[in-house]
Amino acid sequence: MKIVLSLGGSVLMKDFNAERIKRFAEAIEDIAKENKVFVVVGGGKVARDYIRTAKLLGADNTFCDYMGVEVTRLNAMLLCSALKSAPKIIPRDFREAYELSLNHDIVVMGGTFPGHTTDATSALLTEFVNADILLNATSVDGIYSDDPKKNPKAKRFDRIKADDLLKIILRLSSEAGGNYPLDILAIKIIQRSKIKALVFLGEPDNIRRAARGEFEIGTLIEP
Ligand code: UTP
Repeated sequence: MKIVLSLGGSVLMKDFNAERIKRFAEAIEDIAKENKVFVVVGGGKVARDYIRTAKLLGADNTFCDYMGVEVTRLNAMLLCSALKSAPKIIPRDFREAYELSLNHDIVVMGGTFPGHTTDATSALLTEFVNADILLNATSVDGIYSDDPKKNPKAKRFDRIKADDLLKIILRLSSEAGGNYPLDILAIKIIQRSKIKALVFLGEPDNIRRAARGEFEIGTLIEP
C-alpha cells in the first residue's frame, strides 16, 4: 500500500523529546516494511511562536506562512535524523517527493507553499502520488460534531462523509479562535479526489494500528 502520514508538529515535537521522536521513527520504519510511506511533518508550537512574533513585528500573512513552512521543514529534518532508511533530502514539492519515492520506501517532507497548513499539503500529496490512504496523526482522537474542549456534549464520529465534515468545519472556522481538526483546503481535496482519510490521536502505536486498517482508533472520512 501507499500511505501518506500527516504528523502534526505538536504531536511529534512535544518538548523536543528525542525519545518520543525516536519512537515515531520506529513506528514509521515498521509500517514501511510493507508499505511505501510519505510523511508530512507539521510545525507545532515553534511555528506558532515564530508566526505570532513576526506578526507583532508587522509581517504579512504570506511571509508568516513561509516562516511556518521553514519550521515544518526543520521538524522534518529532525524526524529524518532518527530514520535509518529515509533520504536526507526534504523535498520542496510533490514532484520531488514522488521522484525520491522511486528509490526509497520512506520520504519525509514539510509544508510547501503559503495559504494553508500541512493538512492540505498531505491531502495534495495523497492526490499527487495516488496513495491508498491519508493517515492524519493529530492531537485529538477523531472528529467531533463540535469543539470537544468547549462543548462536553460534542459527539465523536466513527465515520463521516467529506461533505458533512466540510459543513462542520465551515461552522467552527467562522467562530473566533475556533479549533478545527482539518483545514478547509484539505477537505476540498479529500472531497474532489475521493480520498480515504483517517484522523486519529498521534501516538506511535496508533500509526501501526492505522496502517493495519484498525480504523476504530479514529474517525474515517469517506467520499
Ligand atoms: P502546520 O501544518 O503545522 O499548522 O503549519 P498547524 O495547524 O499549526 O498544525 P500542528 O499544530 O502542527 O498540528 C504551520 C504553519 O506553516 C504554514 C502555515 O502558516 C501554518 O499555519 N504552512 C504550512 C504553509 O503556509 N504552507 C504549508 O504547506 C504548510
